[in-house]
Amino acid sequence: MRVRPDRPGPMKPNPARVLLAAAALLYGATPCCGQTGVASTPPMGWNSWNHFAEHVTDADIRSAADALVSTGMRDAGYVYVNVDDTWQGKRDAHGVLHPNERFPDMKALGDYIHSKGLKFGLYSSPGSRTCANFEGSLGHETQDAQLYAAWGVDFLKYDLCYFQEEMRKARAGHPGDRDAAKNLMIAAYRKMGDALKATGRPILYSLCQYGVDQPWKWGPAVGASMWRTTDDIDDSYGRMIAIGFSQAGLSKFAGPGAWNDPDMLEIGNGKMSEEEYRTHMSLWVLLAAPLLAGNDLGKMTEADKGILLNTEAIGIDQDSRGVQGDRLHQSGDLEVWTKPLSGGRVAVGLFNRAWSSREISVDLAEIGFQDGAGLRDVWKHKDLGHTTGVFTDTVPGHGVTLLIVGR
Ligand code: GLA
Repeated sequence: MRVRPDRPGPMKPNPARVLLAAAALLYGATPCCGQTGVASTPPMGWNSWNHFAEHVTDADIRSAADALVSTGMRDAGYVYVNVDDTWQGKRDAHGVLHPNERFPDMKALGDYIHSKGLKFGLYSSPGSRTCANFEGSLGHETQDAQLYAAWGVDFLKYDLCYFQEEMRKARAGHPGDRDAAKNLMIAAYRKMGDALKATGRPILYSLCQYGVDQPWKWGPAVGASMWRTTDDIDDSYGRMIAIGFSQAGLSKFAGPGAWNDPDMLEIGNGKMSEEEYRTHMSLWVLLAAPLLAGNDLGKMTEADKGILLNTEAIGIDQDSRGVQGDRLHQSGDLEVWTKPLSGGRVAVGLFNRAWSSREISVDLAEIGFQDGAGLRDVWKHKDLGHTTGVFTDTVPGHGVTLLIVGR
């Protein structure tokens, strides 16, 4: 059983950078934010888990790399090709980990990915085993980090899982120390962060521990550039919005090199409607979330492509200002979220969680446009002209209107 993360409190207008630096001081000597130059905007790419899960093979990864190129996704920014859990085989007598029979040659796979102008991601756990019960890195952190660097790995997702067993032991062994398990976990994440850094290769470090003990407060100090904030997503509207809208209040902890990760995308996996997938993409880009597609890229519909490849939506996520959006208002099923953008612009999401269409409004003066503003509808690819006062749109059930507002 995983522990659900604490719900974040209400947002106060605190500069993210100050908090990130304070977290670094509190939790370790590393100055703010992951590895320099890595993840100045939210990482984008593809990960094998949501579609292929434990069946993934070398051939699937190569096909995904090919598809990222042929669909135009690479050129839109999706550059990481991440092999998730179940690639691991056994350790040899020297402790060196070998991939299993589905991955005959990891170095060759990395070379193939790089030859396409893409980056190579891999997965492990601080525990003895991974979530899918494959070999973890416990006791082999330095050795594994060096192996990843030798294979040309550019991204590591490090997933808590069996390390929770060590945390249980720490809790039982130190009944008076409420922080024993948390401190052990942070030390384990720091250990791999340091080992990755010591390889000298820039490897983006992605924490996956489901938001336990508020990783947004200590992730930067262990060398991470992103950290999961919740338990796993699945391909359902209910789970997707439960995760997405629960991110309210977390914006102050994100910034260039340090991103909250509400988990990977399910767009294209088939169990949500087109409207719902547009809501998924809109929420994630407003959250400045890492955009890791999780579908079978060889079988995308035109609708899936229209969503994943909407360059204006991607531009909101990747905006150079690097500010995460947050909730402006909520009234029952209706939510208004905003994200400040470069050039004095603001992205606005009008979300309707009801089954049928509803009118949703945003007061332009309230978001800084007292004299009105030019509005652009991101999904309709349409300029709506100059508007003053209150803008109202009719938003379909489970749908969204995503706007860019500027002078
Ligand atoms: C956990 C993670 C998922 C995925 C699986 C793999 O559940 O949260 O994203 O990596 O493990 O086993």
